[in-house]
Amino acid sequence: MSATGNHSNRKQRLAILLSGRGSNMVALVQAVQHGVLQNLAEVAVVFSNKPDAPGLETAAALGCPTASLSSQGRKRAEFDAEVVEVLQQYQPDYVILAGYMRILSPTFIRAFAGRILNIHPADTHQHQGLHAYEWAFENRLPETKITVHLVDEGLDTGPILAQHPVDLRGADTLAEVERRGLAVEHMLYADTLVALVTKDRKKTH
Ligand code: GRF
Repeated sequence: MSATGNHSNRKQRLAILLSGRGSNMVALVQAVQHGVLQNLAEVAVVFSNKPDAPGLETAAALGCPTASLSSQGRKRAEFDAEVVEVLQQYQPDYVILAGYMRILSPTFIRAFAGRILNIHPADTHQHQGLHAYEWAFENRLPETKITVHLVDEGLDTGPILAQHPVDLRGADTLAEVERRGLAVEHMLYADTLVALVTKDRKKTH
């Protein structure tokens, strides 16, 4: 956590973690640079456990500081302890998981307790873990609910901060399900952060 505390009126520092293409990261960076988060937050670092993740290059092209540490072949707790050290150098107020394909160890969760967010492409009460869009598509669900939640030590079990429905009627392909879902993800993640940062700030006033 930042040495100056979480609730001041300065911009809140985001560490965004990804393992892949990073479309949620892009949406958040755009919200910080010229959207709903511009007066509220700044990107402290974009971090990946995969040094060759396409999202890292995209983040650098957008002007964000980047860092990576390969998780390949590493023991979870040891790796996470190193990631915590790396992230702490950037003094994040919030750790934002954006397609970060790792289950976090207690070491990690405790280092940033109550300040880690995740986005999940389904209602976390109905579906946890990977392949949520496939699940919605294969079951021909008329709707899925994008969920932003705080991360605790379980798999997609943390308190829900926000949910938004996605109408899946008439979505004939998995690609179409994902396209509709991601459009909602990109809007909901930034909006949820606006609400959270605003609420956390009020706690000191
Ligand atoms: C998103 O669907 C997100 O909900 C899930 O992983 C995917 C990441 O996509 N946790 P992207 O890398 O942000 O494009």
